[in-house]
Amino acid sequence: MASSFSSQTSSEDTPRFMSILSGEWMDLPVDSRHGKCRSVSDFEKLSRVGEGTYGIVYRARDRRTNYIVALKKMRMEKEKNGIPISGLREINILLNLRHTNIVEMSEVVVGRSLESIFLVMEYCEQDLASLLDNMSAPFTEAQVKCIMIQLLKALRYLHENFILHRDLKVSNLLMTDKGCVKIADFGLARKYAFPEQPMTPRVVTLWYRAPELLLGSKTQTTALDMWSAGCIFGELLAHKPLLPGRSEIHQLEMTIELFGTPSEAIWPGFNDLPGMKDITLKKQPYNNVRHTFPWLTDAGIRLLNYLFMYDPEKRASAEDALDSSYFKEQPYPCEPEFMPSFPHHRLKTQRRDKKEHDFGRKIRSC
Ligand SMILES: Nc1ncnc2c1ncn2[C@@H]1O[C@H](COP(=O)(O)OP(=O)(O)O)[C@@H](O)[C@H]1O
Ligand SMILES: [Mg+2]
Repeated sequence: MASSFSSQTSSEDTPRFMSILSGEWMDLPVDSRHGKCRSVSDFEKLSRVGEGTYGIVYRARDRRTNYIVALKKMRMEKEKNGIPISGLREINILLNLRHTNIVEMSEVVVGRSLESIFLVMEYCEQDLASLLDNMSAPFTEAQVKCIMIQLLKALRYLHENFILHRDLKVSNLLMTDKGCVKIADFGLARKYAFPEQPMTPRVVTLWYRAPELLLGSKTQTTALDMWSAGCIFGELLAHKPLLPGRSEIHQLEMTIELFGTPSEAIWPGFNDLPGMKDITLKKQPYNNVRHTFPWLTDAGIRLLNYLFMYDPEKRASAEDALDSSYFKEQPYPCEPEFMPSFPHHRLKTQRRDKKEHDFGRKIRSC
């Protein structure tokens, strides 16, 4: 890619570019506009498989290799000054990650207009949101364990590398026809550093948002991804979203209904969270997890409760969760290659993201 991401138009209508190295504006010869990037015309778009808030995703064929890939077009509409920060973060983070359970990005390609930029990724036949929407029977527990183990391995790797995903949900989990689960969509991901820096609290789609974020905590830790992993676990088991709140306050109410009202005693620092100034929480003394999943073993209930610890410091890490006896007892997790292959519904319908995005507001900044 060219060493410049911001562009300007000179008096002769020739685009000028700002070097991200020196900050100076410069002319760029037409031949060099794509830098070392290939053109998107090297790819044949076959179908549109997804459209989230920030990008359209196509299934495409690389004309050179014949490989089927996913092309994610970056949305640029609101940007006057080059690539949006979310896009830069996504490229930067994905280029530096390599793990079986994280979607692999191979290159960035550009369209004719300088505003069209595409990420080329390995193609995964399913995303878990459309799969769940279209499956008549829920996943078996052996399959849920298989999916969760892969998700937790990816999270362990991300967190070891100081990356917070900050938008885990079923539509951002992909699955190949070989049963390999991969985390995708790193548009909200961030590298974190010590000492922790303040970050915007309004990340993570509402239904998967941890209570510390709902209550305005300025510091974000790996625990927020673990809460989302808990929501995904519950959704896979119940075959429906676990906490589908309609607003931030409704989200908190649903959380309290299921896990009881938090207190300073179980979550030191809770009373001082910014959000606690404006609200009085309903008193609900019971944990209703057992009641919601009456058929689940004690080990399964323990894992759910560990992922949903109110105090982020006490919440299970990916490593803790992988150690859970739930994964070592019957029914044993099925091996990825023994996951059934499912019909490719996405090639026919577009769904759910719309619904989720109405409720699950998110901001791509900070
Ligand atoms: N590598 C991929 N292979 C197949 N489908 C993908 C791939 N990446 C994304 N998708 C599909 O496109 C949808 C939107 O992509 P995503 O990266 O989540 O973008 P957004 O930021 O717009 O949500 C996903 O929910 C999924 O259905
Ligand atoms: Mg997405």
